[in-house]
Amino acid sequence: MAEVIYEARGVGKTFGSVTALADAGFQIRAGEVVGLVGDNGAGKSTLVKILSGVHQPTTGSVLLDGVERRWNSPAEALDAGIETLYQDSGLCADLSISANVYLGREILRPGLAGKLGLLDHKAMATRAKEGLERAGIGVAGGSRPVGTMSGGQRQAVAIGRAITWARKLIILDEPTNHLGARQAAEVLQVIARAKEQGLGVIFISHTLPHVLEATDRIVVLRLGRVIADAPTSSFTPDSLLKVITGLAGT
Ligand SMILES: Nc1ncnc2c1ncn2[C@@H]1O[C@H](COP(=O)(O)OP(=O)(O)O)[C@@H](O)[C@H]1O
Ligand SMILES: [Mg+2]
Repeated sequence: MAEVIYEARGVGKTFGSVTALADAGFQIRAGEVVGLVGDNGAGKSTLVKILSGVHQPTTGSVLLDGVERRWNSPAEALDAGIETLYQDSGLCADLSISANVYLGREILRPGLAGKLGLLDHKAMATRAKEGLERAGIGVAGGSRPVGTMSGGQRQAVAIGRAITWARKLIILDEPTNHLGARQAAEVLQVIARAKEQGLGVIFISHTLPHVLEATDRIVVLRLGRVIADAPTSSFTPDSLLKVITGLAGT
């Protein structure tokens, strides 16, 4: 089995009197896709925010490559190779695909006295194309504004951007939301590509067929606790729904 790359260990998080997470833990290995599911309010987003450095845990810790880390900001987790894609993809509609891939990480050509940098559009376009190809995303018309693309293509670009930069882990919060069936299938294929490259993927979705199709293992949260953590093959659509809702029988 591949080595564990990231782990949440005994993570608790309280907001005032609200306990969002209590003693939550799971591990993710290189090349593994883990589904994180649970009803609204189960604590999924809070756990993602702790894994990606947005929040600090109240108790417990996160370990990257077996070393306990404390992220003081999302930038620190990013620097460590952890990419997070939130529901709202954060792409700029007016910019091209390659400009979006490099948003906030632009390649500068050294300017006069090495001070005033100029954007190196050519280098960015080439590398963005490479990154997206690695993600299995066709980049015909890479210079056209992202705003002219379909929702599925935009989501693919957002994931492609994450794959371009991720060195360890990609966290995808509801990436197939609001997508048509074919577009969602494309996104699931991109997830499979990330896995082939040895990245860990955390996939959050309410669409259980997608979770059952795309993941190797499923972690179920309920009221801030991990109540199931098992290989995807051990669930049926019915049994997974019952674990999530806590409703046995019927
Ligand atoms: N910033 C916050 N302040 C107060 N309560 C919060 C905050 N973020 C989340 N919560 C609470 O924590 C619990 C878990 O929320 P969340 O992690 O968003 O669940 P999920 O993503 O599974 O729907 C909920 O009861 C929610 O109201
Ligand atoms: Mg949420």
